[in-house]
Amino acid sequence: MRVAIGNDHVAYEMKLEVAEYVRSLGHEVVDLGHHGDARTDYPTYGRAVGEAVASGAVDRGIAICGTGVGISIAANKVAGVRAVCCSEPYSAQLSREHNDTNVLCFGARVVGIELAKMIVRCWLDGQFEGGRHADRVAMLTAMDAC
Ligand code: RB5
Repeated sequence: MRVAIGNDHVAYEMKLEVAEYVRSLGHEVVDLGHHGDARTDYPTYGRAVGEAVASGAVDRGIAICGTGVGISIAANKVAGVRAVCCSEPYSAQLSREHNDTNVLCFGARVVGIELAKMIVRCWLDGQFEGGRHADRVAMLTAMDAC
């Protein structure tokens, strides 16, 4: 898959490691910044990742800030984005199977790199189950128009 990745200054170092891990799993990474640890603003990068996913430029997105909270709120402002903020693999996997999430967010101040990799792998591998879940996801999509 083609995976966009974005981050604020707090998550710069973790972004580099996560991007390398995603590449090692055979995916292409599109790094949308932030490129460095100079202070910046997480909404810019959450939105950039969300727009890349919603436009179809990439298949999925990963966005990282200090907690994952702010950047997930920003990504979810983009119509068509279903961003999950989580700090363990179970929710990451279920968010794919039930919610068809297309952006994964977590916090560099919350999870260590090994747990982050586990979360990323479960999320990238997770397959949407469709069926009854598809109707609910369609309800979410309809809310984008409101
Ligand atoms: C930056 O200090 C911090 O607020 C940001 O990384 C993130 O945690 C916001 O949700």
